[in-house]
Amino acid sequence: MTQSHDDMPANPSGNRPFDAVLRIRLSRREVLSGGLAGAAAFLAPSALRAAAPASKGDLIGFTPVAVDDGGGPRPTISPDYEFQVLVPWGDPLQPGGPAFRWPPNAADQAEQLGIGHDGLAFFTIDGANDHGLLVLNHEFGRNRHVLGKRAPASLDEVRVSQHAHGVSVVAIRRIDGRWDSVASPFARRIHANTPVAFSGPAADHPLLQNPSADVPRGTLNNCACGTTPWGTYLTCEENFQGYFGATRPWKPSDVEARYGLRAKGFNYGWEAFDPRFELNHPDHANEANRFGWVVEIDPFDPDHVPVKRTALGRFKHEGIAITEGRDGRLVGYMADDQAFEYLYKFVTDDDWRTLRDRGQSPLDHGRLYVARFNDDGTGTWRELTLDNPALAARFGSQAEVLVHARIAADLLGATPMDRPEWTTVAPDGRVYCALTNNRARRVPDAANPLAPNPDGHVIRWRDADDHLGTTFTWDIFLVAQETHGTEATFSDPDGVWADPDGRLFILTDGGQQVGLNNQLLVADTATGEVRRLLTGVPGCEVTGIAMTPDRRTAFVNLQHPGNGDPNKSTFPSNVPGTVPRDATIALWRKDGGVVGS
Ligand code: FEO
Ligand code: CA
Ligand code: CA
Ligand code: CA
Repeated sequence: MTQSHDDMPANPSGNRPFDAVLRIRLSRREVLSGGLAGAAAFLAPSALRAAAPASKGDLIGFTPVAVDDGGGPRPTISPDYEFQVLVPWGDPLQPGGPAFRWPPNAADQAEQLGIGHDGLAFFTIDGANDHGLLVLNHEFGRNRHVLGKRAPASLDEVRVSQHAHGVSVVAIRRIDGRWDSVASPFARRIHANTPVAFSGPAADHPLLQNPSADVPRGTLNNCACGTTPWGTYLTCEENFQGYFGATRPWKPSDVEARYGLRAKGFNYGWEAFDPRFELNHPDHANEANRFGWVVEIDPFDPDHVPVKRTALGRFKHEGIAITEGRDGRLVGYMADDQAFEYLYKFVTDDDWRTLRDRGQSPLDHGRLYVARFNDDGTGTWRELTLDNPALAARFGSQAEVLVHARIAADLLGATPMDRPEWTTVAPDGRVYCALTNNRARRVPDAANPLAPNPDGHVIRWRDADDHLGTTFTWDIFLVAQETHGTEATFSDPDGVWADPDGRLFILTDGGQQVGLNNQLLVADTATGEVRRLLTGVPGCEVTGIAMTPDRRTAFVNLQHPGNGDPNKSTFPSNVPGTVPRDATIALWRKDGGVVGS
């Protein structure tokens, strides 16, 4: 989500300023001139076209989108590729469901695709490459876009907004070369009022119970996602705080302020009609603690109650990248997206198969760590555990540590990062993370070397002991830049996904220069070469990426086209004045090759 709230630091821990003894070795000038060992240079399409052969390696062969493409009303894609639109906001979940009309009503919206398409995953049905479940997050939708007004005027209108959020499970199939949604017993919506369950160390803690003893409900601001080896979807709750507000004077506690809760929220106005979101309401005193989690959904069980996995900690979860480490233990890399927040990892206590054979969820049994980046290119993972005296002095239980993970991480001396977004694990074992920007940074460090950092960068690291170790080495893969001499570039990397061949797909979310819209780029992690595969439409973010098992079709989302304003974009409609609709696009190579090649 591009919004100023992410730029506003909520972290008063002062972790870096206390580290004045550390020398900052890299000046801004050195970074911009490529002084970082191994940092990739972004090359303009014209430069790439001039090269023969175009690629230093063989991974990326497509003709890139030129720098002056991309200002138009439709996405621009490499001439080697084709795309189509599917599952826009408001389409019925399956044939026969309520058709889109604007603004929607609450009952219809609960049976239609939500808005704010973000992270997504494709779950094949029977191994097919042309049939599966698309599970996608609906991160946010502003009232003006969803309701056509600044604020809801009734509880029913609040319900419309709430039903537009959450997650969709929709079955899709390619028939005669075109993808479309099809009837399925698995199609379902999960939204802000769907009953959910808590699991893990904090599940039964009083901090997650309300005085009203109500059943936990809902998932919100579902940003990026992950998948598990046992075939479930993990949706990550990011800016949950924005849905809470106060209709009467209210001041946050230090803990609430640390999580960014504010009397106005993001001006959704839900609190005016739904007491769950009223910060003053005594019956719902702990409602905000029920958000900010990683939530597991089984897409193949339409009755499955989504489970919030407390062992993974509570913060503004951007996404989760799961990989299998030594001895079958799972490792999940996670970022907390706000200026000066942290990177985390979760490591299961045992082989995930062993845990599941015992009837236990691997996501309930493990250790949570936060990253400390040293300026010499090394780093450490520090465990959020009550065994640490610094945490034992502050918290009464591991459950409290997890509910207030940001504060525990402060006490462990974690490194404040430049808005960490998606993480991904490349086939060589390196982990990549997009640091989207940080205009508030005044003091650089080696891992966040620009102050301010207007355009972001991509950092990568390699953990010791096959992902299980508590030490790592890191370097900066890429520094995003806008215009640099005659080379037009890009800014605000957000989504990153590494394919099994070593391509890194980079999706952007921010203002782009020279008339460019947000972009989908492909990088070669071995050579550092980067090419632009697609540009979106005005006002939209390009986010979310998933592929069929054969990687011949990719699914990418265009979020908030025109920022919801029909004067800026009517995508996907060509009819002037039409309200734009967030949508997925399917894209493929014309020659049937692997997407990204
Ligand atoms: Fe939802 Fe940080 O992007
Ligand atoms: Ca977004
Ligand atoms: Ca972003
Ligand atoms: Ca994002």
